[in-house]
Amino acid sequence: MLEKDVEKVLVSNAEIKQIAKELGKQLSFDYKDKFPIVLGLLKGCVPFIGDLITEMDIHLELGFMDVSSYHGGIESSGDVKISKDLGISVQDRHIIIAEDIVDTGRTIKTIMELLTFRGAASVEVVTMLDKPTGRIVDFHPKYVGTTIPSEFVIGYGLDYEQKYRNLPFVGVLKPEVYNK
Ligand code: IMP
Repeated sequence: MLEKDVEKVLVSNAEIKQIAKELGKQLSFDYKDKFPIVLGLLKGCVPFIGDLITEMDIHLELGFMDVSSYHGGIESSGDVKISKDLGISVQDRHIIIAEDIVDTGRTIKTIMELLTFRGAASVEVVTMLDKPTGRIVDFHPKYVGTTIPSEFVIGYGLDYEQKYRNLPFVGVLKPEVYNK
């Protein structure tokens, strides 16, 4: 039903699972004995963070913040709004922020600065997708699943007007969907 709105698949489900496996293995190695907080930024992180943490063979704490920068459309507004905070202390903790996509970099940079200000021992970012052509602030995520071109994508957590997050792959919508 949903797939009829998709023009093309950019990252298949099998590719996403492989990305989670490789990043999970790398993070398990880098964070061994550090008991990191894996922090998901809602809501887009949901499917990917599930795949990622189940590929991490170390002790970790899971946390979430609800953060938004897009307000329903297809262009970033530049505002970063925190509607649900983490609720646990980050003092002296190692934080791995798990993102669906880094586009302008504004959201992630704002949250990284906040966590550093709150006393985190380290803050790094793992992202399923990187869209470096969209970057407005100078930021390079340390752990990147795959790099995509400058296109608005949906699926696997990513939405268009809150829809399509449940697609099992990442794709590009047909232009007529935006004009409905
Ligand atoms: P940034 O602050 O511009 O890097 O935006 C990060 C957030 O914007 C992501 O976590 C997504 O929620 C949203 N976003 C950025 N690019 C896309 C896209 O292509 N499709 C859907 N959401 C996107």
